[in-house]
Amino acid sequence: MNPAAHAHILQAALSHIPAHIQHVADYEACAREFIADDIWHYIQSGSDQNLSLAANRRSFDQLALLPRVLRSVHEGHTRVHLFGHEHRAPLLLAPVAYHGLVHPDAELATVQAAVAMQTAMVVSTLASRRFMDIRRTAEAAAQELQRPVPPLWLQLYSQPTRAQTQAVLQAAAEANFDAIVWTVDAHYKRTAMALPVGVSAVNTDAEAQYKHTSQLLDECLVLGSRFTEHAPTWEDLAWLRGQTDKPILVKGIVSPADAKQALALGANGLVVSNHGGRVLDGMVSPVDVLPLMRAAVGAEVPLLLDGGIRWGTDVVKAVALGADAVMVGRPQMHALAVAGMLGVAHMLHLLRVELELAMAQLGCGVLAEVNESVLFRA
Ligand code: FNR
Repeated sequence: MNPAAHAHILQAALSHIPAHIQHVADYEACAREFIADDIWHYIQSGSDQNLSLAANRRSFDQLALLPRVLRSVHEGHTRVHLFGHEHRAPLLLAPVAYHGLVHPDAELATVQAAVAMQTAMVVSTLASRRFMDIRRTAEAAAQELQRPVPPLWLQLYSQPTRAQTQAVLQAAAEANFDAIVWTVDAHYKRTAMALPVGVSAVNTDAEAQYKHTSQLLDECLVLGSRFTEHAPTWEDLAWLRGQTDKPILVKGIVSPADAKQALALGANGLVVSNHGGRVLDGMVSPVDVLPLMRAAVGAEVPLLLDGGIRWGTDVVKAVALGADAVMVGRPQMHALAVAGMLGVAHMLHLLRVELELAMAQLGCGVLAEVNESVLFRA
């Protein structure tokens, strides 16, 4: 590691997995030693009192599972189809900005792990590596490992102008990204961290970067400021639909009425999310609204969930309540900091082993059998 270029990284990632890392949560504790204070705070924090952050975990912990015994799970599997692709497991890498904050190889290391584990990666608009470089790295890894490139999706943040948004879409199209995840819940997010030298959102232009990395400093505070001027609205979804033939998922929806509106305007799927508790504090946790969201959109619409997924049993609970798949956010950064590509691949492996163990213990051989009946209701 070049110390000058990566001065914000406290310790080079290990080339092995420490023996004490047995669960995803172990990466979090271990990662603390690798990540400088301000970056650690940026990654870990929720908003304000961290009510939503805490609720994301609590909602999972409060759900009790009801195993059924002596059922055969022979020939079971965790495969799921989303937008024409068969995923090995209902697990994706959530869009997380600036992987370069924790590892010099940044998103390139993460995508190698995604290839190794055959896991789809949602690449943030604020990725610290170019979309095309991420695609090429995935292809090289796929060739080396003799396996296909998993789906790579673009996470889109609307930019200050449509021309700038189009430029992001164009770069993602050139990198042949397979779907667009349009994030709609973070436009008014407060972010105070200054990016270290060498880390930036290389797929956007400088003005757009400023908007996503600076504090709300306007004389008008928020309402009436230029933040509201540039904020996307439903009209932008109709516009976006006209820009691409790829599937569009809207991320950051927790209201059944919004879910219906998004679908009516051409969205193909939704990510039920509160942005990992990083936006409106005190808002509902995704897992608590999931049954209502599933009821609102019907059985066929792909519904993803993120926020607080740390255990295989969390995946089971989310699927039981109506999710087709889940995404994991912060643990990517923890694992990347500790052991780079190896760490991220191991983190995904741990979740998949736990998921399969939980399914076997519940007596469910396939995800279609994971429904409300696996949850205990008093
Ligand atoms: C995020 N998240 C996010 N979401 C998004 O749509 N675009 C982005 O660029 C980012 N960036 C980002 C950075 C960091 C440091 C974090 C922690 C989160 C939100 C992310 O996609 C996801 O919704 C949450 O992280 C899910 O919660 P968990 O898994 O972190 O608990």
